[in-house]
Amino acid sequence: MAHIIGSISTSHVPAIGGALARQKQEDPYWKPFFDGYDKAREWLAQTRPDVVVIVHNDHGLNFFLDKMPTFSVGAADVYQTADEGWGIPALVQPKGCVDLSWQIVETLVEDDFDITTCQEALIDHAVSLPLALLWPEGQAAGAWPVEIVPVCINTVLAPYPSAARCYRLGQSLRRAIESWDDDRRVLVIASGGLSHQLDGERAGFINRSFDQQFMDSLVDDPTWITQYTNDELVELTGTQGIELLMWVAARGVLDDTPVRKLHSHYHVPISNTATGLVVLEQA
Ligand code: DHB
Ligand code: FE
Repeated sequence: MAHIIGSISTSHVPAIGGALARQKQEDPYWKPFFDGYDKAREWLAQTRPDVVVIVHNDHGLNFFLDKMPTFSVGAADVYQTADEGWGIPALVQPKGCVDLSWQIVETLVEDDFDITTCQEALIDHAVSLPLALLWPEGQAAGAWPVEIVPVCINTVLAPYPSAARCYRLGQSLRRAIESWDDDRRVLVIASGGLSHQLDGERAGFINRSFDQQFMDSLVDDPTWITQYTNDELVELTGTQGIELLMWVAARGVLDDTPVRKLHSHYHVPISNTATGLVVLEQA
């Protein structure tokens, strides 16, 4: 049986890719942000996951408005990084863990999730930046030290799935990982959020107190967020703040057993976004 070591939930912002490419880690604007990832990297050096299930949202690169699945799962042996229009260099292409992908596809369908299975997929900053932040040596070496299974939740074209449904998706992902006949170590990554709005009258909107409450709730009260409808979440966190649904699904993966918070970090703003990081370990 595969072993789930825990989860890392992180914001993604394309500007981080530019800062990495220009080695701005010590720059006063960036230092407080990048320093937040040291503890997560230390933990990864000790725990050494083999495979990452990365719950993320696409931003119009792989799926556009003409076809928009609510949930999709990658089942490719390599994921194509591509120019998505933010001027950030394309990062190393991650290898897929095809065997776990199919285990997840089969389990999710068994659990009544109607998913789209992608045997080819483009991945954007939501997948590549967490890899680059957590394993910076991978970009230099030309290969990430983990294989991935990308799980995508639509937060681009309304309607979006509810927080409760995303949590249940996470529970089903757990069932899939635990029924995978393999002894590899699996890390769950959530990539999205926290509060941010990129356009319109409320562009730049950030809600620190709500973000903080949400991050705190993840430890002992993981379904706290499900009291809110998606309209309420957009009101509370901004039009793109709804990306926090990725964190909800990732927390669902750790549902059954108690978790321990190893690290959290919150920094406002990077570009338009309140950036958060939470590392949870299975107790
Ligand atoms: C920004 C944040 C995002 O989540 C994103 O996908 C694109 C841009 C930003 O704050 O600039
Ligand atoms: Fe985003």
